[in-house]
Amino acid sequence: MSVIVSPSLLSADFLHLDKDIEMINNSDADWLHMDVMDGSFVPNISFGFPVMKAVGKALKKPMDVHLMIECPEKYIQQTADCGAAIMNVHYEACVHLHRTLQAIKAAGMKAGVTLNPSTPVNVLEDIIGDIDIVQLMSVNPGFGGQSFITHAVKKVQKLKALIEKEQCNTLIEVDGGVNGETAPLLVNAGTDILVSGSYIFGSKDPYATIAALKGL
Ligand code: DX5
Ligand code: ZN
Repeated sequence: MSVIVSPSLLSADFLHLDKDIEMINNSDADWLHMDVMDGSFVPNISFGFPVMKAVGKALKKPMDVHLMIECPEKYIQQTADCGAAIMNVHYEACVHLHRTLQAIKAAGMKAGVTLNPSTPVNVLEDIIGDIDIVQLMSVNPGFGGQSFITHAVKKVQKLKALIEKEQCNTLIEVDGGVNGETAPLLVNAGTDILVSGSYIFGSKDPYATIAALKGL
């Protein structure tokens, strides 16, 4: 199976989102990654449900939502109503993670858990079988265009070992600083899904950049 590419809309042109959604629809991208920030869990504010809903209407591919917010369990139905296929919540923002994952699945979405760079993968040991996707942050969440934290490659290997030990089908997603240099390292380590924002939307030919990532 080739790697799944999920371009991050955070680096798109917000004045002309229709053009960027059309590009995603016509490209080799598998999913579209949407970053919601609340100014509390992370030190930035991005966009919220009205924007996601509008994008969801035009998008022809699965919407991969990454909620960088406190209490994400309050927004499960609203996320589903925007047409999200995947809902990623931060481990660090969920007191009752197991309950939250069950509720995300009951709302018809794949359940994703995101780990900050400083959170070890072994905190998921007792719950890995309940998670559809683990998203590892390879930057501190809150901003696009940051430098890749190389330790993320080792975390992918550790997570892969845990998934194999527990014999589950959990997919590994990596988010932050993914570009032509870092993506091959991640794919070789066992990454299933690459999120990439500034590298794709800042390139001269986003179609070719997406196709190159898909070809890894
Ligand atoms: C960061 C976001 C990322 C961001 C990645 O908090 O979660 O999805 O858009 O941007 P790049 O690929 O530019 O690091
Ligand atoms: Zn993200």
